Amino acid sequence: MHLTREEEQTYDGEFGWANQVCMRILVRLGELFNATKLIPISSAHVSGVSYKTLGDAPIEFLKSLADADGKAKVKATLNPQSFSPEYLGKKLPKNIREKQFTILEQFERMGFTRSLTCTPYYLHRPEAGSHLAWAESSAVVYANSVLGARTNREGGPSALAAAIIGKTPDYGMHKAENREPTILVNVEKPLQNETEFGALGIHLGEILGDKIPSIHGLKNASEDSLKQLSAALASTGMANMFRRDARSEKRGIEKVNVEARDIKRAMEGLSTATRQEADLVFIGCPHCSLDEIKQVASHVEGKKVKPRTECWVCTSRHIMRNAADYVKIIEKAGAHVLPDMCTIVSWTEMLGISTIMTNSAKTAYYAPTLNKAKTILVPLEECLKTAFKG
Ligand code: F3S
Repeated sequence: MHLTREEEQTYDGEFGWANQVCMRILVRLGELFNATKLIPISSAHVSGVSYKTLGDAPIEFLKSLADADGKAKVKATLNPQSFSPEYLGKKLPKNIREKQFTILEQFERMGFTRSLTCTPYYLHRPEAGSHLAWAESSAVVYANSVLGARTNREGGPSALAAAIIGKTPDYGMHKAENREPTILVNVEKPLQNETEFGALGIHLGEILGDKIPSIHGLKNASEDSLKQLSAALASTGMANMFRRDARSEKRGIEKVNVEARDIKRAMEGLSTATRQEADLVFIGCPHCSLDEIKQVASHVEGKKVKPRTECWVCTSRHIMRNAADYVKIIEKAGAHVLPDMCTIVSWTEMLGISTIMTNSAKTAYYAPTLNKAKTILVPLEECLKTAFKG
C-alpha cells in the first residue's frame, strides 16, 4: 500500500500513539483488501456504542485513545446507545447507566458528536460521490443506494480509526467498478407499504448474499420505504448497496423474479408470536424521519395508548427538535418518543417486554435473538391501531 510521507510518519508514531494505532488499523485493513492507498473521507459514523453490545473490555481502549489525544479529523457521529436517558435511564440499574455514560464520554473527548442515531444522513446529508467510513449497516446501504455516497460496511474499530485519521483505504464500494449491479431483480407485484419493502430486503439478503441487485418494480418508492429495504437487506445479506432500474451491460447477467408469495413468506417468517397482543409497539428502526414522526402524530392525535401497552417511537434528538409539535401530540396520546437509543440493543428483557410489535423487518429479524422477544411484523397503521384506542 502506498503511503504519503505524512501517513508514514503517522504509522511510525511521530504524531502520537492514538494516531499511530489508528493508522495501523487502516493500513492492515487496506492490505487485507488489496487497497493501494488511503483516500480522504467527509465523515465517519461509529457503531458499537451501546454498553449492552460493547461490554467492558473496549472501554479501556477508548479511554486510552482519548487519553492519548485521539481526535476526530472529520465530522464524526455515533450510533444509538442502549437507553434513552430521560425515560428508560430511570428504570435501569445504576452500573449500566454509568458504564454507558463512560463510553459516551470517551467518544466526546475524541470530538465525536453525541448524535446517537442510526440515521446520521438526517443530520448531514452526504453529497453524492463523497467518500465516507460508516459502520451502521442500514445507513451504509442507504448511503450507497439512495444518497449515491460511497462507503464500505465498516466495523466499529475501523470507523473509529477512519474518524481519527480522516481517511479510509480505497477498496470495495469506493471504486466505481464495484458498484455495478451483478444481478437483475424483478419485483412482480407493487409493494404496498414500508413493511413489505423490509420483507423484500430480508428475502433478497437471503438469496443474493453479496451480489448487488438492480431492482426493477419499485416505482415511486419513498425514501422512508427505501430505508426499510436498506436496513433489511443488510440484516440477512452482505450486499452494501442496491440499484434501482439500472441496466447492465454484462452479458448473461443472472435474473431473478420476486413474487408476491416471496414477500408473504418473508413477512410470515418474521412474525413469531402466536397472539396479536404486544407488550411493546415499537416504531423507529431505523430511526424515524421527520415525515414518519408526522405520520405517527396524525394517526394518534386525540387517542390514548391502551393500558398495559408500551408504545415507543425512536428517533434522533435532531429530528425531535424539528418535530417538537408532533412529538407533543404523540406524547399526549401516551406514547414515548425516545431519542438516542436502539430498542434492539437496549435492555427490553429487563423491562419485562416479551412480545414486540413493529413495522420494521430489521427489528423483527433480530428481536427473537437479541431481545429474546416474540415478534409481530405489521405496517405502521396496524401497529398504531393495536397500541391506541379512541
Ligand atoms: Fe437503528 Fe437499532 Fe434498527 S441501530 S437500524 S434502531 S437495530
